[in-house]
Amino acid sequence: MAKLILFLGLVALTCSLAIAFEPSPLQDFCVADTGSSARVNGLVCKDPKLAQADDFFFSGLHVTGNTSNPVGSKVTPVTAAQIAGLNTLGISIVRLDYAPWGINPPHTHPRATEILTVLEGSLHVGFVTSNPDNRLITKVLQKGDVFVFPVGLVHFQRNVGYGNAVAIAALSSQNPGVITIANAVFGSNPPIAAEVLTKAFQVDKSVVDWVRSKF
Ligand SMILES: *[C@@H]1O[C@H](CO)[C@@H](O)[C@H](O)[C@H]1NC(C)=O
Repeated sequence: MAKLILFLGLVALTCSLAIAFEPSPLQDFCVADTGSSARVNGLVCKDPKLAQADDFFFSGLHVTGNTSNPVGSKVTPVTAAQIAGLNTLGISIVRLDYAPWGINPPHTHPRATEILTVLEGSLHVGFVTSNPDNRLITKVLQKGDVFVFPVGLVHFQRNVGYGNAVAIAALSSQNPGVITIANAVFGSNPPIAAEVLTKAFQVDKSVVDWVRSKF
C-alpha cells in the first residue's frame, strides 16, 4: 500500500510538472537565497521568516535606457535576478527604450510568452510562426496599444515614430531567457563552422565572414 501511494505520488508529480509550463509554487513565496551554492531548477529559497518588503521590490523602471548602440534600443530587465522574491512565481517585467528608428532585433524567449504595451511613440512589431509556414504576423502599435508574442516565437519591434519610444512588457517566466538570432548564429563562442552557415543561408563564405565581423 505504501509503495502504491508512493508510486501514485510520483505519477501525480510527473504529470503536474508536464502540464505546468513553469512549476507552480508549492508555498506562498520562495525568495531566492542568492548566497546558496545549491543547484536547483530555479533558485534556492531562503527562510520565509527572513523575507522583507525589499525582496519583492525594484526601483528604476522610470529611468530611460541608454539606446546609444548599433540597434538603437535598450532593454531593462526585472526578473528573478533583480527581484529575489520573483523566484518560482513565473512572471517578470521589462522596460524597453527605442531611439528614433531603433529596433529590438529578432529574438525569442525560450521560456515565456510576452505581453507588451506602448507608453510612448509608435512601434512596428511582429512575430513569425514556426515551420513550415513561417507566417509573419505584424502590426503598428500606438501609445496604449497591447500586443502579445507567443512563447518561443521569433519577434521584434521597431520604432517607427520620429521621437523616442518606450514600452513595458510582462513575461510569463521569472527567467524568460533571450536568444537574439543574429548574435546566437553569427556571434556564438566558439563560432559555428562557416560551412554550416554558408549552406544554411545560401551565401558565400565572404558574406558569412562579413556578417560575423559585426558580432
Ligand atoms: C550610453 O552608452 C554609450 C555607449 O556605450 C556611452 O558612450 C555613453 O556614455 C552612455 N551614455 C550615458 C548617459 O550613460
